[in-house]
Amino acid sequence: MDEDRIYVDHAATTAPDARVVEAMLPYLTEFWGNPSSIYYEAREARKGFDVARRSVAQVLGSRPNEVIFTSGGTESDNLALRGVAYGARKQGNHIITTAVEHHAILHTAERLEDEGFRVTYLPVDNEGFVDLDALSEALDDETTLVSVIYANNEVGAVNQIAEVVRIVKEHNPRIAVHTDAVQAAGYLDLDVDALGVDLLSLAAHKIHGPKGAGVLYLRVRTPFLAQTLGGSQEKNRRAGTESVANAVGMATALEIADGERGERREHTGGLRDRIAEELPKRIPGTRITGPTDASRRLPNSFSCCFDGVEGESILLQLDLKGISASSGSACTTGSLEPSHVLLAMGIPHAVARGSLRITLGKDNTMQEIERLLDIIPDSVERLRALAPNAHPVRRT
Ligand SMILES: Cc1ncc(COP(=O)(O)O)c(C=O)c1O
Repeated sequence: MDEDRIYVDHAATTAPDARVVEAMLPYLTEFWGNPSSIYYEAREARKGFDVARRSVAQVLGSRPNEVIFTSGGTESDNLALRGVAYGARKQGNHIITTAVEHHAILHTAERLEDEGFRVTYLPVDNEGFVDLDALSEALDDETTLVSVIYANNEVGAVNQIAEVVRIVKEHNPRIAVHTDAVQAAGYLDLDVDALGVDLLSLAAHKIHGPKGAGVLYLRVRTPFLAQTLGGSQEKNRRAGTESVANAVGMATALEIADGERGERREHTGGLRDRIAEELPKRIPGTRITGPTDASRRLPNSFSCCFDGVEGESILLQLDLKGISASSGSACTTGSLEPSHVLLAMGIPHAVARGSLRITLGKDNTMQEIERLLDIIPDSVERLRALAPNAHPVRRT
């Protein structure tokens, strides 16, 4: 990558860590055997795979056989929802999730509705936190699964997952609780017993691991029906020849993230605070979106809306100046519809269209942030000058 570019879109993906690539390499070059076979190449692959599983389990505080390797966050989310919805179908057909989930959850929930399940989408407050009173009210005798995002990918709101679990289990301990921890993994505690969850999704590429690699944690005795059928891999819960290299990459990235979590929190939090303090001063008509209390927000996450400009236009301007940022989740980039997360938070359509998301990473520096703080105001001003009457700037 061009050394002068500033990459601040770590919620979309992160650069693979050299240590991760190094750990994966032997499983692509030497130990490429099918881990289910019995000869040398396979045995070494199996050993690497088993070590990877134990290492993920260690970070999660789980048993190794509760770890299912998947192809990433999307598959883990699909598998969690569909696996439990169908596995617990005799118990009931009601699922609860939230209005601010990633589309991997939302689109799966919508499909389940088409297939005859009933789904409740919990609202959020104006900072993006899931409404826990609404959760209490939504639980009924038919509920089998509750899925609440741990940390939101667009506005960084960190939900109280342990509290979600407490409310759900008090209603009925048999209801399974899933959390999408894809964005949380690099910064927040992942101990599944402390959280109390029955299922948890992870994706390697958000924590400097490879793309196409993830984990679904599945607590023993959780009702579950496999969704990919074939061989008996992953104890009949996810068929298909295992990608040992990806599993090793996932495990190594997670182990490193776990070891460096405190450092990464502090480093990105410092950079984020500088942006949050300075950007609104330099650009009138900036509204910070998401939690105002920094301790309830992912440390690497900053988001805002600028009056009078389109998010897409800002991104194009920033790209020309060497900055890679986002207007929301990467999956919605390319559509001019404002983010469903911002709309669920009650932000008006016209305001939500001017959104910018900056997500920091371990390798960003304060010098980069200072450059960013010079470039963004200039870009916003330029765009506003091009269409001065398009949207009035609210100067507060
Ligand atoms: C919260 C969340 N869940 C799930 C996903 C999907 O993960 P993947 O890209 O590994 O399929 C993402 C990716 O942006 C995400 O941010």
